[in-house]
Amino acid sequence: MFNALSPAPADPIFGLNAAFAADDRPHKVNLGIGVYQDEQGRTPVLRAVRAAEQRLAERGDTKSYLPISGAPAYGDHVQRLLFGEVQDNARTAQTPGGTGALRVAGDLVAQTAGPTRVWLPSPSWANHQQIFAAAGHEIQTYAYYDPARTGLDEDAMLSALATVGAGDVVLLHGCCHNPTGFDPSPATWGKIADLAGDKGWLPLVDLAYQGFGEGLDHDVQGLRTLTDALPEVLVASSFSKNFGLYSERAGALTMVGADAARAELVFGHIKRAVRANYSNPPRHAEALVVTVLDDASLRADWSAELDTMRDRITSMRRALAEQLGRTGRDFSFLLRQRGMFGFTGLSPAQVDRLQGEHAIYMVRSGRINVAGLNPHNLDQVASAIAAVL
Ligand code: LMR
Repeated sequence: MFNALSPAPADPIFGLNAAFAADDRPHKVNLGIGVYQDEQGRTPVLRAVRAAEQRLAERGDTKSYLPISGAPAYGDHVQRLLFGEVQDNARTAQTPGGTGALRVAGDLVAQTAGPTRVWLPSPSWANHQQIFAAAGHEIQTYAYYDPARTGLDEDAMLSALATVGAGDVVLLHGCCHNPTGFDPSPATWGKIADLAGDKGWLPLVDLAYQGFGEGLDHDVQGLRTLTDALPEVLVASSFSKNFGLYSERAGALTMVGADAARAELVFGHIKRAVRANYSNPPRHAEALVVTVLDDASLRADWSAELDTMRDRITSMRRALAEQLGRTGRDFSFLLRQRGMFGFTGLSPAQVDRLQGEHAIYMVRSGRINVAGLNPHNLDQVASAIAAVL
């Protein structure tokens, strides 16, 4: 069966993480994978999650199966975070992470409407391409980032989206665009919604960083512009980052339909796609999220800790821009980016030098995880970048 196989390429993000783990240089710095790190470089279990773990251990509960679409209470909390309240015309399935949600969305479309074109922004998260290709779709890209302006090229993006046809899927990053950190303005979200309505394509919103841009509510304004205006929107969301639940795989796929009957109809097909893929989602992920969000004081503590994570990233972003500004080049564009990532403009050759000569790891697109910076490694990172410029 496998005689003729050539080796699979390493994953650009997880492969980098493995290379970092294998590096025995003591001064190594990991600015690769999008995982929050505190000032000491640790990825903590959030306080509210620790409290929930304790309650769950005491309760003992059960490890029996969840329904195919997960716990209804989990879906309700997801919708409250996305829309402010549970929506009559929305249905949410708990999925293994945001990646699971994206794959189920890809399977749903392939198995109901048939394989189609899935449009990704250029650039996009490295995994998007293979998720939708694996679900049988043709991948297309639309203009997004303009390196000359170091920002979102709104005109080029809107012109590209105007060429997308009915029945196609357009993937949009709900906030904190990965990898560039540049998001559409509220007015631009309105124009995107108009185009989706005029042309008849389906928006699939990937919302992996809610709370890391400006705040929980602010970060879903673009999504709400779409759902207010359009008859059908899919949302892949995740608690990996904002709850620090990376390895618990706490994600969700939400279908917003024109009305409850349409959402319910599509939900049946989502459940079929789930059953054929991983059968049903993990209970522990759901139990943690629901325990925190059901309890006013745990929820408030979670939200406060999320604010602290976001503020720490913002202060590191400022400090890096300031230090790099001393090289005589303008790095103020870093301050216009939002979320966990900084899109530095470094070339793959410069990234390779940073890894080889300075033990600083970042994705070859020039993306850095700003949360990997701290007061102990900031000078080292800034002077290494200055050295390869
Ligand atoms: C990232 O972009 O680094 C994260 O979303 C982790 C991943 O799964 O790639």
